[in-house]
Amino acid sequence: MKDKIEDIKQQLENLKIDSLEQLEDFRIQFLSKKGKIQGLFADFKNVAKEEKPKVGQMMNVLKNQAQEIYNDIKENLSSQDVGTDKQMDLTRPVEFSHIGARHPISLVRNEIIEIFNRIGFVISEGPEVEDDFHIFTALNFPPEHPARDMQDTFFIEKDPDIALRTHTSSVQARVMENTKPPIRTISPGRVFRNEAISARAHCIFHQVEGLYVDKNVSFSDLKQTLLYFAKEMFGEETKIRLRPSYFPFTEPSAEMDVSCNICGGKGCNVCKYTGWLEILGCGMVDPNVLTNCGIDAQEYTGFAFGMGVERIAMLKYQVKDLRLFFENDKRFLEQFSGAY
Ligand code: PHE
Repeated sequence: MKDKIEDIKQQLENLKIDSLEQLEDFRIQFLSKKGKIQGLFADFKNVAKEEKPKVGQMMNVLKNQAQEIYNDIKENLSSQDVGTDKQMDLTRPVEFSHIGARHPISLVRNEIIEIFNRIGFVISEGPEVEDDFHIFTALNFPPEHPARDMQDTFFIEKDPDIALRTHTSSVQARVMENTKPPIRTISPGRVFRNEAISARAHCIFHQVEGLYVDKNVSFSDLKQTLLYFAKEMFGEETKIRLRPSYFPFTEPSAEMDVSCNICGGKGCNVCKYTGWLEILGCGMVDPNVLTNCGIDAQEYTGFAFGMGVERIAMLKYQVKDLRLFFENDKRFLEQFSGAY
């Protein structure tokens, strides 16, 4: 009996199992009910009485040893199995997931915001559905001003008038009401005007407007700030010029042109052979506006400016039709992915 046990022990020590099939063979030969070890237990009754405790113990040790071998090899083979599985080729090149691209309007808006952030302008936001006071009255629009007309403004309610804001100057009116100068803020956001949709106009578009109110703010501060912006946005060689204009909320008012970044000012079809591109409106905040918003116009002065993000994006990326920004055609939008 002892010899038989020794013999099986030897066999266990010389095992060579490389696959799950061989392991299964091993289980059947050694560990199953009809296997070699179970066979020893059947013979146990023939062992001499005084030998039984010792032989019994040897048999138990052998059985445990075989079971352990089986468990170890099984664990080993199944962890290797993941790597050798035909479904999982670990040498295959990685397929990158497609994460989409940022919208060109967002890219340009973020760039404008960053440029002004660097010189201390902080973002302020306000409601898109706004009351008449903040869109028009506070900003010195006379009651008969055409911008209040149905043709320009989407009204939501009449008396009191509630409308979709036609510019983000409404946000600046709110900031002035609630903040003591110095104020240095930009308000990016969506605006709405009742205009026919064409290659150059849309009823929804985006603006970034800026406001600076403090003691002794002058027109030369405005000019310097805008020159800095133009150079950051369109390149160091960019020049600006200011043309007199009119806005109810600024006095004096101006429109700003930048030298054409496509032909460098020589004249091309983008700048209509003038060498200049109009990009924003600006001016010194009218004292009436400061007073309407609770700021002492004797003590403080300010400048303001406002630009359309679509217009800047069209110039920057040479997009000829503004409607492309709103169609969400992936083939168009994907072209800006490199420009994070
Ligand atoms: N609010 C003007 C517009 O919507 C832009 C502007 C802002 C002009 C500030 C001058 C000063 O067109």
